[in-house]
Formats: sequence, C-alpha cells, structure tokens
Amino acid sequence: MYMKKTLIVANWKMYPLDEDVAVELATKVEQGIKNVEGVEVALCPPFVYLIEIKKHLAKASLGAQNTFWEQEGAYTGEISPAMLKKLGCSYVILGHSERKNFLGETPEMINQKVRAVLAAKLIPVVCIGEKKRLKGAIRAELEWQMKGIFKDIPSSAISKIVLAYEPEWAISSQVHAQPATPQDCKETISFMRDALKGLWDETIAKNMTILYGGSVNSSNIKEFLLEGNAQGALVGFASLEAEEFIKLVGNLIK
Ligand code: 13P
Repeated sequence: MYMKKTLIVANWKMYPLDEDVAVELATKVEQGIKNVEGVEVALCPPFVYLIEIKKHLAKASLGAQNTFWEQEGAYTGEISPAMLKKLGCSYVILGHSERKNFLGETPEMINQKVRAVLAAKLIPVVCIGEKKRLKGAIRAELEWQMKGIFKDIPSSAISKIVLAYEPEWAISSQVHAQPATPQDCKETISFMRDALKGLWDETIAKNMTILYGGSVNSSNIKEFLLEGNAQGALVGFASLEAEEFIKLVGNLIK
C-alpha cells in the first residue's frame, strides 16, 4: 500500500489550565522528538495557547481542535481557518465526537468546515466513529457520516484530507472505555476504504491517510499501525504527559 509518513496528532482537548504548563509540555515534546525521523507530529492545544506554543516548535507542527466555516465576518465567538493559517497552524481537527455530543455539530456543518479548512490551505483531520460497540450497524453509521461530511467535495481536494477513525466507546474519558482491538481497527479501516471507493474511486480510497484514535498509548500504538493498518493516531490523554507522549512517538521507530 502507498505509505506516507506516520502521522501522530496530539489532541490536548481543554487541557491544561495554565499557559506555562502548556508551553512546558510543548517544549519537552519538541525536545524529545527532534531526532525522530519518518514521523510527523502535530500538537493541537486549545486556541488560547497557539501563538505562544508556535514559538517553541520546530520539528512538531501546530494544529487547532476546531474552526468555523467562514474566513471572516460577523460570527461572534468563532475563529476562522484563515486566522489559524496566519498563526502558523498546519492542521485542524474537525468533527470530533465531543463537539458533536456537546455542541450538536452535524455532518453538514463539518462538511462546510472541511471546505473552509481546505480553502485556507490547512489539513483537516476529520473524525468519524460510532457511539456504541455494535458489530454490523457500525458500517451504515460510518458510511452515513462520511457521505455527509464529504458531500460534493471534489476529488482533487479529497487527497489532502486526513481521516481519523475514532470510536466513541474507545475514548479514554468515556466510562468503561477500552481501546479497539487491532483487528477491529483493521476491519473498520478496510471498510472505510471500500466506502471511499464507492464515494470516489480506488486511488482516493487507497491513498487516504487514515488514523486511529481511542485510548492510544505508548504500549499499544505499534499494534494499531502494524496489525490495525492505521497510518498514525489521534491521541488524547497520552499526549498530555510529555514523557509518555515522547515514548509513544519513539516506539514507532523501534
Ligand atoms: P484518548 O486518547 O484520551 O482516548 O482520546 C482520544 C481522542 O478523543 C483524541 O481525539
């Protein structure tokens, strides 16, 4: 299969509470990964820390956790892809399940955001995933999410998108969360590629970068890549502790 660099996206969510802690975490991670080859690491802190953290990154890229679907205008409280681009961001996480569940984001809204992010020349990291661990029903749900999110996006733009398979039941903050098995991951990613073939074509289905997210840590990362066929990971909790996150990235090249 066509292989790009392994991509590890650190989603810090709404942590930490203090800027000095955020800067310390970013600085330690930057130091710890600076000699790692073949892995792209993107740190996605809360918006308020982006400017300061950017100053401390060289090897790691910067990303945001959300954005709006217009570049400028009377949209109180929103932050646009054009603004994020100017701050030095390269990635934007879109459609995270926490945004769907707490803020009611729909596939239609995410579709507009994907377009705006691509227009600003940023890379969208688009999350899809089912709520419950139910065999069978998962496929229809994931296909429905992909159809809505990618509606009418031209194939020339699709190749720039990163998809993240993030089953909600596997996210560490959920009660009784447990990571997907590498087999779950492999089967779902293979299904996603089949669905992408139906939505576009074989080349796009084959070349799309697909990450796995959900309770990824330094001990299990490798199995998601080797056995689960993921091309990287979207990491929450394990990205908030520098030593653990550096170990996670380092384990990829061991
Ligand atoms: P955890 O790695 O904490 O399970 O979070 C996953 C996630 O939601 C990343 O976007």
